[in-house]
Amino acid sequence: MCAAADLTVSLNSASSRKAPFHLTTSGKFLVGITGGAALGLTVICAPFVTPALRRYCLPYVPATNEQIANILTALKGRKGSLLDLGSGDGRIVLEAAKEKFVSHGVELNPWLVFYSKFDAFRRGLSGNTKFYRKDLWKCDISKYDNIVIFGVDQMMSDLQKKFQTECKPGCNIIACRYPLPSMSPYKTIGHGIDKVWVYNFNAP
Ligand SMILES: C[S@@+](CC[C@H](N)C(=O)[O-])C[C@H]1O[C@@H](n2cnc3c(N)ncnc32)[C@H](O)[C@@H]1O
Repeated sequence: MCAAADLTVSLNSASSRKAPFHLTTSGKFLVGITGGAALGLTVICAPFVTPALRRYCLPYVPATNEQIANILTALKGRKGSLLDLGSGDGRIVLEAAKEKFVSHGVELNPWLVFYSKFDAFRRGLSGNTKFYRKDLWKCDISKYDNIVIFGVDQMMSDLQKKFQTECKPGCNIIACRYPLPSMSPYKTIGHGIDKVWVYNFNAP
């Protein structure tokens, strides 16, 4: 009776002792690869998602070719410097540089800034283009002759105030997709989602 009880106790304690957990080399490799990939994806994707957490959610939506053609038409007869507020992949800045504008872009997403600089280099346009990783609301816009903005409807009223207080006399604003709420454009070009509105600010 007593021996049987002893045997039961020792069997129970043997089964409750767990074998130590060991990861095989290939297991460790897999954990490393999947963990690294997840971390890498997070680092790459975060700058594309974080605009949604800002006061104005302005996501990366590249301008259409037609929209860029309309911007270039709006720039006909203009010269000097150009700034794209939220320059995305940098295409507007580069196209304006091809038309001899000293062309700058400000953009929050570091990957897009990096890509824009790389593309400028690849196309031999580094000389008269610059891309800054900067918040467009904190950017000094007072030295530019032409400013392009492809924004969202909700931000246009505050942007208009920024233009009114900061733009230099005679600065041209080219608004894509959404107009400024209480100003009359001196011309509009295109239709539908590709339409651009052109304003002259603080005329001397
Ligand atoms: C609608 S996309 C326009 C991209 C480019 N201008 C074009 O037309 O192809 C707006 C861009 O603004 C950037 N952005 C959003 N908030 C910003 C901010 N506060 N300062 C600078 N860039 C911003 C986004 O990352 C995105 O690339």
